[in-house]
Amino acid sequence: MTLLARHHLPPKEGDYNLRNYLEACETFSWAEAEKAFSWKKTGRINMAHECVDKHVEEGYGSKTAIHYINGEDEYKLTFKEVKEKSDHLASVLRAHGVKKGDIVFIFLPKHPDCYIAMMAVIKLGAIAGPLFEAFMEEAIRDRVADCDGKFMITDHVLGKRIPKNDLPSLEKIFITSSPEHCEAGEISLPAELAAIERESDITEWLDMESGLNIHYTSGSTGKPKGVVHAHRAMVQQYLTGKWVLDLKNDDVYWCTAHPGWVTGTVYGIFAPWLNRATLVVNGGRFDARSWYRTLEKTEVTVWYSAPTAFRMLMAEGNDLQKEYDLSLLRHVLSVGEPLNPEVIYWGEETLGKRIHDTWWMTETGAQLIVNLPSEVIKPGSMGRPFPGIQVAILDDDGNILPHGEVGHLAIKASWPAIMREIWKNEEKYHSYFPFPGWYLSGDLAILDEDGYVFFQGRSDDMINSSGERIGPFEVESKLIEHPAVAEAGVIGKPDALRGEIVKAFIVLRKGYKPSDELLEDIRQFVKKKLAAHAAPREAEFIDQLPKTKISGKILRRELKARELEKINKR
Ligand code: PRX
Repeated sequence: MTLLARHHLPPKEGDYNLRNYLEACETFSWAEAEKAFSWKKTGRINMAHECVDKHVEEGYGSKTAIHYINGEDEYKLTFKEVKEKSDHLASVLRAHGVKKGDIVFIFLPKHPDCYIAMMAVIKLGAIAGPLFEAFMEEAIRDRVADCDGKFMITDHVLGKRIPKNDLPSLEKIFITSSPEHCEAGEISLPAELAAIERESDITEWLDMESGLNIHYTSGSTGKPKGVVHAHRAMVQQYLTGKWVLDLKNDDVYWCTAHPGWVTGTVYGIFAPWLNRATLVVNGGRFDARSWYRTLEKTEVTVWYSAPTAFRMLMAEGNDLQKEYDLSLLRHVLSVGEPLNPEVIYWGEETLGKRIHDTWWMTETGAQLIVNLPSEVIKPGSMGRPFPGIQVAILDDDGNILPHGEVGHLAIKASWPAIMREIWKNEEKYHSYFPFPGWYLSGDLAILDEDGYVFFQGRSDDMINSSGERIGPFEVESKLIEHPAVAEAGVIGKPDALRGEIVKAFIVLRKGYKPSDELLEDIRQFVKKKLAAHAAPREAEFIDQLPKTKISGKILRRELKARELEKINKR
């Protein structure tokens, strides 16, 4: 806890949307935030309306909603254009049978089409299921099969990864490319958009509990689970956008996450658009120069990214950013993995900005622990509970622990953005609430006497690599499909750049000999079938895996302990 000594003060002159945290906590009510929504007066509820159409109705139609940049390819779309395009796409989807409550998967790169598709699906009252663009066959199969998904919007490149023959529920695949790029049975959206007229009155009016989006997320056991959110989440997403992202009318905001991850949807689309900010949408892969160029060219004022990305920029040294004009950047935030104090110091030295850590999870639907721009940052801490949110550290029996002790990070239920359900898995849903009234995060943490929360790790085997949540079971399941692999145990190994990397311990089948080529072949197998980010970056052959005596389960903890011991000896 020596880090507590270094407190980082907020700039004095800041014109923040929320000026005093403690005061806000005292007088806080969610009902107050509801006043910003048009449904408060009209009773007509739909997230997409609040994100886009409302702004057009209120006279902001010509304001830029999306600034897209991918290398030399760059253009802007106004709120009016996004409204019209999403109305038109919704008209086509409706003509093809998409209706309220259906799940529509959206498997597209980081491109305006993806954002428009999200709005179109939500306008119809359907549940949007954005998929990360690096997903391969198995990852798609697991998700679509779990919820018997009927619809998918994709392009002709990513669409090739969909294992159609294994997914009988998938009735219609919409392709954002022209008919000559479509395979038999696929529907070309440009052709349909030319044939079907845009209805401007397409929005389905819903209630607060209606399904909004579904994000599959990994845990330490089993396949990914479908976390479903409801339209009520917008209240908290709006208010955290206002107070934590500190978004104002003329902000240009860049969230670097893909909508396939919850951050890319909630803080990449909903929260900023609820606050009428301009979104920067960047295509292409990470590259330090192109990221600085994006900040400069699109004139980003508020930037939300992740520790691994900051560490990658840090690795380029302290001078590269000097080649770019970043003077408009005023607020920088981070999420998804522990933000090391070194990164905060780097941010202060090179960008001249504090980096504000935030904590939340797919299941929580919005930020819960935050560093507000008006408040002191304690490097090493994720911040304090958002007003209206109560946090505690519990022991194994659900008793509240005193300040300074490590225990389970728990949140007093409930709050507006909390998940509505885990798709078709009530047991899993209830497992988050083992003690009456508390949501258990699975994270371990310490609370200090000022209410700041310090992350200490996970209480389970879940892996967090570059802020991406990876379930060891999914990777192990894929590994043992390789003909050479008899058994596999997968852990997160500490890594200076990525926080953790996926490390696999592999027992070979009889007849196979360990070799570097074989290891690489196994790695590539996971990469091509599951997803690049889940493929073990490191793998090791082992004669046998440690297992529990009674049930014979793989003891990942033991594998991890051995690995940590090796690292410590070095
Ligand atoms: O372990 C915590 C870590 O990411 C987990 C949630 O992952 P996911 O559902 O993919 O959502 C990521 C972003 C919303 C948490 O249980 N995590 C998230 N934020 C932080 C964090 N770990 C440390 N510091 C954070 N700020």
